[in-house]
Amino acid sequence: MARHLITSALPYINGIKHLGNMVGSMLPADVYSRYLRQRGHDVLYICATDEHGTPAELAAKEQGIPVAEFCAQAHDAQKAVYDGFALAFDYFGRSSSEQNVEITQHFARRLNENGFIEERAIRQVYSPTDGRFLPDRYVEGTCPHCGYDKARGDQCENCTRVLDPTDLINPRSAISGSTDLEVRETKHLFLLQSKLQHEVEEWVSRHEDDWPQLASSIARKWLNEGLHDRAITRDLDWGVPVPADTWPELAAEGKVFYVWFDAPIEYIGATKEWADLDPENRDWKSWWYDVDTDVRYTEFMAKDNVPFHTVMFPATELGVREPWKKVDYVKAFNWLTYYGGKFSTSQKRGVFTDQALDILPADYWRYFLIANAPESDDSSFTWEHFTATVNKDLADTLGNFVNRVLSFSKKRFGEEVPAGGEPGAAEAKLGEEIARLLAEYEQQMEALQFRKAAAALRALWSAGNSYLEEKAPWLEIKTDKDGAALTLRTAMNLIHLYAVVSEPFIPATSAAMRQAFALPSDTATWISADEARTLTALTPGIPFTVPPVLFAKLTDEDLENYKERFGGSPE
Ligand code: MF3
Ligand code: ZN
Repeated sequence: MARHLITSALPYINGIKHLGNMVGSMLPADVYSRYLRQRGHDVLYICATDEHGTPAELAAKEQGIPVAEFCAQAHDAQKAVYDGFALAFDYFGRSSSEQNVEITQHFARRLNENGFIEERAIRQVYSPTDGRFLPDRYVEGTCPHCGYDKARGDQCENCTRVLDPTDLINPRSAISGSTDLEVRETKHLFLLQSKLQHEVEEWVSRHEDDWPQLASSIARKWLNEGLHDRAITRDLDWGVPVPADTWPELAAEGKVFYVWFDAPIEYIGATKEWADLDPENRDWKSWWYDVDTDVRYTEFMAKDNVPFHTVMFPATELGVREPWKKVDYVKAFNWLTYYGGKFSTSQKRGVFTDQALDILPADYWRYFLIANAPESDDSSFTWEHFTATVNKDLADTLGNFVNRVLSFSKKRFGEEVPAGGEPGAAEAKLGEEIARLLAEYEQQMEALQFRKAAAALRALWSAGNSYLEEKAPWLEIKTDKDGAALTLRTAMNLIHLYAVVSEPFIPATSAAMRQAFALPSDTATWISADEARTLTALTPGIPFTVPPVLFAKLTDEDLENYKERFGGSPE
């Protein structure tokens, strides 16, 4: 059995993420990791904050605190939200860690030794007032295309056109506002990706058939356009320093690596952070180095990240000429929209992950988001859809089933799984149905088809409701007490099965469902097809308690409140 290495794209340090970020990377990775762990696989699930780059520097400046302090706080704030969402990372690291510095510098030295790095002189904006070169985002001015007067050197926020700082009309420094700017020559390190084009192409062609179409088509598009050499250093204070032993001159000038160079390396860096914390942890290298076939590596990300993960980072890994583990499967997502429009921080539109947890517990969000994950296309978040889904699937189909069965049984038979009755045709039919749906669920999870897996889970919940309606134990009990006991006992076995199978989606609720029964050992381990078919694992006499309502129904008033608070439509 292969070991599973799982990573989700590293969230940028600045800002709490919205629901779209959550469903496009971390949440599905968590669901998949939980499922694999349940099935007895050895799993390592790694994530981290992506801390370098100009946005972090600028945000720290705005708050008037040192950037290292800003990042430490912002990391903790994000981690708290992810704990709230019950994301069960094995480790959530930081790309500014010493481990990542060490591995990133090692990669750069190796690339250099292998002839894939070159120093080149480029012309860049310099601000004598600030005493420094200004990276693209530090230059502001008027957009030559639309006239917007706060366009940044890399892009105009108003018309979204990509810009070069020298395109801007009336350019000024974003730090000091100084308009005394000049263009000076400066040296930077370039990664000669063009030399790696063939190798990357060959590597992609061996994998793309296994990848989802979204990932392979983006990788192809980039390869067809040709890999260009790109600058991998920047003039910033905050970043992984260029190692002085190899590039003394650039190091003395204070150059650091570009954030997209060190960020993917942090997947490895964070694994080392994890291993360094605890001598019990397996040697970190055994997950990453020379483990071509004994580790299966799955990456989760939104589609804008695909080029970096299918082309650029593999090019880096190939150029290092050491056997670092490369990705086996790239699970890419489209966008989650808010009423068909963009989630927008600046316009306060959409739902941020911390706000979501203020409103409702994580399981409501986890289920809704995965059941509507933007897999084959973009999908739209609306409060109407959210409240309807919660009420129907979670409150009625699952929650109500659990409460109805347990409270009715308690009232008529006391607080133990009731004895009596022999399974008949209805139970046989139910068992076949459950076994079939369980197999469908497993198949979709193995294929990382999250919407379809959620649909199979929902169908499992529904099958219990149909059985209960058909047997109607509240009528049955009047004429056939043993028959009613059998029905309720079978339904309780379904509850137990739901508790196990639903765990990756709704872990807290699953725990509450499992704990309703006084079972001797942890029962989150997997259900066999045979167990699903017979539905007799919970035997008569096992004590149970009736848990509090699992999911609250959301009212029309709730719906109106949400829409008012968050904006009900994109315009
Ligand atoms: N921070 C990037 C984003 O949010 C993703 C970085 S993924 C990694 O788009 F590969 F660089 F780690
Ligand atoms: Zn513009």
